Amino acid sequence: MDISVQKGDLIQQECDMLVLGAFEGGKEPYGAAGEVNEELNGRLFGYWKAEKFKAKQGEIFLMRTDEKIPAKRVLVVGLGKNEDFCVDSVRQAAATSLSVAKQMRCKKVVSVLHGAGYGDLQARDCARAMVEGVRLVDYKFAKYKKDKSKAPEKFEIVSKDGRAVKAAQRGVVDGEAAAAGTVFARDLVNTPGQDMHPDTLVEAANQIAHGKGSIRVRVYNKEKLQKMGAGGILGVAQGSECPPYLVHMVYTPKKPSKKKVALVGKAVTFDSGGLSLKPAGSMETMKIDMAGSAVVLGVFSVIDQWAPKAEVHGIFGAVENMPSGKAIRPGDVLTAMNKKTIEVLNTDAEGRLTLADTLSFAVKQKPDFIIDLATLTGACVVALGEEITAVMGNNPELSQRILTAASGAGEKMWEMPLEKNYRKLIDSDIADLKNIGSRWGGCLTAGLFLQEFVDKVPWAHLDIAGPAYAERVIDPYTKKGATGHGVRTLLELLREL
Ligand code: BES
Ligand code: ZN
Ligand code: ZN
Repeated sequence: MDISVQKGDLIQQECDMLVLGAFEGGKEPYGAAGEVNEELNGRLFGYWKAEKFKAKQGEIFLMRTDEKIPAKRVLVVGLGKNEDFCVDSVRQAAATSLSVAKQMRCKKVVSVLHGAGYGDLQARDCARAMVEGVRLVDYKFAKYKKDKSKAPEKFEIVSKDGRAVKAAQRGVVDGEAAAAGTVFARDLVNTPGQDMHPDTLVEAANQIAHGKGSIRVRVYNKEKLQKMGAGGILGVAQGSECPPYLVHMVYTPKKPSKKKVALVGKAVTFDSGGLSLKPAGSMETMKIDMAGSAVVLGVFSVIDQWAPKAEVHGIFGAVENMPSGKAIRPGDVLTAMNKKTIEVLNTDAEGRLTLADTLSFAVKQKPDFIIDLATLTGACVVALGEEITAVMGNNPELSQRILTAASGAGEKMWEMPLEKNYRKLIDSDIADLKNIGSRWGGCLTAGLFLQEFVDKVPWAHLDIAGPAYAERVIDPYTKKGATGHGVRTLLELLREL
């Protein structure tokens, strides 16, 4: 499917479906819809009223034009109430229109540029959101089951406004990159544990860097990790047949801004819980436990096109968490790369053990700030549900920047506190720390645990345990399966540096 922006008059467009938008509660079609209504002698509004179309968000109204205009059909997508309208409404509207186009087997779709000029919405951001919505709803994980659906050949965004067209063309380039990064992450996360081992993630990193002068990859194997004192990664990997790796990717910009960022991802390719074995139901989706690293890889997969001005480091410790005669036992003590000792009371709280090392490693790169992403705790999903990421950190400004970037990206995030008084919950009798807290506030004690490994470097921790994987349809562009949640927020953030 080719997505493009053209200057032109919507009414003149020859296509299988012409897509318009309407706000809920609007009395008469106005703007583009008003013009089409006039060309159709008022029939658009006539049928729309007869069908009791309210233009609620996601609601659709479809009619044939009987060749009164060159478009065969007109689709009106509900944009919801004015006051709720934001850039994500644009993303959703575009996704909805593509779903309908696929059902109708359209070859060519022409759409208005939803949202441009509404409030403070810019044409570039609206076009970007439209491309993201269209590409992401069209995504299917097709490694093991063929995707039989057929997308249109052409999706054209048409506007009369020459300046908006120019800006929107740049937005299409942005949207293609952001969607490709998200899709890259989705594919990795959807891949079952049988085909996703620590060395698969190493391969993915090498494949991304291949032929790109701007990206360098260093891989530390088990022997090197032993020399580096990466007791957390080694401890978790002990029970598995698969050897662990620490992967360090570095993107160097052509015109550097002197800013240096470290992105750290949890990379447990399968989390059985280890000897603290998970019950069957909780294990069903644990192939997703490398989603943090998939987000980092998703960002790196398009970083050349995105061309941020900051130097970006991508770091993850790839392991598999399995029970066996060699596995770590509850009660064992590990020493992390920063020399802190950890009493492992539950081998299922393994993410923080690997992050203890990768965060220590990130600190050594002397970045301006560190962001880690991890499917870290079930407690986070209890607290915020399946759609919202918890943001915790030691630097309010960084946390705020992430929240702002997330809202533009259409990824829901909410700040949680690193409550000092809870720190004592992870005190151990025999080591510097233990890897579990009390029964309550598990998302926060996990965050407090990680804080022990970032020194004073500005840092934010994103617990993506809920939104990394959708158990059901979340919105028009997020179906059941891996979401790639986090990629678009990070890209948005990198753009500002
Ligand atoms: N990978 C899980 C967390 C998780 C749960 C991710 C649900 C996605 C969906 C993590 O390693 C884990 O098992 N955490 C334990 C920690 C506990 C033992 C302190 C949990 O949340 O139960
Ligand atoms: Zn676990
Ligand atoms: Zn885990």
